[in-house]
Amino acid sequence: MLLTFAPVLDRIAEEIAGLTERGRPADYIPALASADPNSFGMAVAELDGTVYGVGDWQRPFSTQSVTKVFTLALTLARKGDPLWDHVGREPSGNPFNSLVQLEYENGIPRNPFINAGALVVTDQLHRMTGDASGVLLDFLRAESGNPDLDFDRDVAASENANGDRNAALAHFMASYDNIANPVPTLLREYFRQCSIEASCADLALATGFLARHGIRADGTRLLTRSQAKHVNAIMLTCGTYDAAGDFAYRVGLPGKSGVGGAIVAVVPGRCTLCVWSPGLDARGNSVAGVAALDRFTTITGLSVF
Ligand code: DON
Repeated sequence: MLLTFAPVLDRIAEEIAGLTERGRPADYIPALASADPNSFGMAVAELDGTVYGVGDWQRPFSTQSVTKVFTLALTLARKGDPLWDHVGREPSGNPFNSLVQLEYENGIPRNPFINAGALVVTDQLHRMTGDASGVLLDFLRAESGNPDLDFDRDVAASENANGDRNAALAHFMASYDNIANPVPTLLREYFRQCSIEASCADLALATGFLARHGIRADGTRLLTRSQAKHVNAIMLTCGTYDAAGDFAYRVGLPGKSGVGGAIVAVVPGRCTLCVWSPGLDARGNSVAGVAALDRFTTITGLSVF
């Protein structure tokens, strides 16, 4: 159908420029609070690594919870199905940093994309590799082809200084023997993971293995075809927290958001997308980001449905 995504992205950027309600940047750490809600970038990467972009598509931002997709894939690749003894795969229907379900459900988080579940996944990756955040950074550098990707040490330190809730989640799960590393070690790895800076182009490329059914940029396999399906399914049902139903309704693609304002999305067998705009809605998803992805699937018809 489409020969190039460039005109589609231009049209979306024009429409997004007219959005009056853009939400508010996350304000729990200074680096995120100072972001300009009018910033907007979007990139589409084809399976062969061709990238189209518009707006601030090459500007680095704080990736935050978008990294949870990559740690899940890296952990699943190494551990396989026994990972599901430690974390579930059902939508939580609760905010991403909620504590309440954990007590009813004996320290097993609902899914890998709420904070509790992501902590469990990072814990497993660190147990297996001894360097969870380093393995993640190496992977993102390789898949994006950008060797300059790095942690933002100030963001990691701010996350740590404001990390009481994540610390509570980790300690609570440790009390159920669902955390293998010392909690301070796990939190250090998790906050480093959240602090990675990357652009829309970097993240669209790095997500490519999910559109290629598990195949990395260099042609080697990270996930089996079934495992790639599993990650995409969890993104669709849990990737935008308690707004996952609305996101599936509007966008119709597996997606994963972060409080830095980025969202990655996958059109299996066709392309991957990353959109960034720092203004968030009440549930922590980028307002302009969801609107842009909604327009993309509406204009192109590229949805899983
Ligand atoms: O764990 C936290 O609270 C943040 N560093 C990451 C949260 C995040 O991006 C969740 N997303 N919407």
